[in-house]
Amino acid sequence: MTLLRDHELARAFDHASHTYDRLTSLNPGYRTDLLRSARRLRLPGDGADLHVLDLGCGTGASTRALLRVAPRARITGVDASPGMLRRALAKPWPARVRFLHLTAEDVATAGEGPFDAVFAAYLFRNVADPDRVLETVRALLRPGGRLAVHEYSLSGSAVHRALWTAVCRGVIIPAGTVSGDRGLYRHLWRSVLAFDTAPVFADRMRRAGFTGVRAAPVAGWQTGIVHTFLARNGSGPTDCVR
Ligand SMILES: C[S@@+](CC[C@H](N)C(=O)[O-])C[C@H]1O[C@@H](n2cnc3c(N)ncnc32)[C@H](O)[C@@H]1O
Repeated sequence: MTLLRDHELARAFDHASHTYDRLTSLNPGYRTDLLRSARRLRLPGDGADLHVLDLGCGTGASTRALLRVAPRARITGVDASPGMLRRALAKPWPARVRFLHLTAEDVATAGEGPFDAVFAAYLFRNVADPDRVLETVRALLRPGGRLAVHEYSLSGSAVHRALWTAVCRGVIIPAGTVSGDRGLYRHLWRSVLAFDTAPVFADRMRRAGFTGVRAAPVAGWQTGIVHTFLARNGSGPTDCVR
């Protein structure tokens, strides 16, 4: 099963960026679930004095969720696709929010960080080497800093796998075909089938050195299909970000 990766994937997102917000708005719960996962970071004090990284920020839907739960935080959004970033930048943001064209793999070497929290929504399934990106996230987080990964990661039940395929065949791929992005939406379908199930990804996070790892389902039709993975960068305090 060949999946889109790296430059090929960034080009596909560039092309899809024009219709991305419209298509995701057709998904009941897309924005509510992002907000739920961002809220699960439990950032204190409305995010005052915190610097939060939105890894794979796309057109800014996940950034908006972060801003809602932490309106006083400094937020940096990074993405590999210039087209997706252009869409994000065209939206109104407070001065505390900035966007950078960087791959997840390159954020640390670009001299960014440290961060108090990292949010990665729909990113990990798309990267060629998730272990390497988890390692990068640990290097970017302050001790005790928090990570929330919001991802299509199946529960492991055959029912959820079959439901995902039915929704892709019946709705997502036809809608993506109409918008001229059939390749990207087939990639979405297949990348979810190929990605870690929720228990496997939670174990991957533990192996990368994260502590307090847990997976929580979202509500609605995506229960058992989308999870929030929560963890801390082990060595710091457990009850506050700093
Ligand atoms: C499905 S979109 C999600 C965007 C946003 N987080 C949201 O919730 O709407 C995934 C994004 O990850 C970006 N992406 C994929 N691989 C990446 C990588 N290695 N480094 C940085 N961004 C990447 C894509 O360009 C795309 O904008």
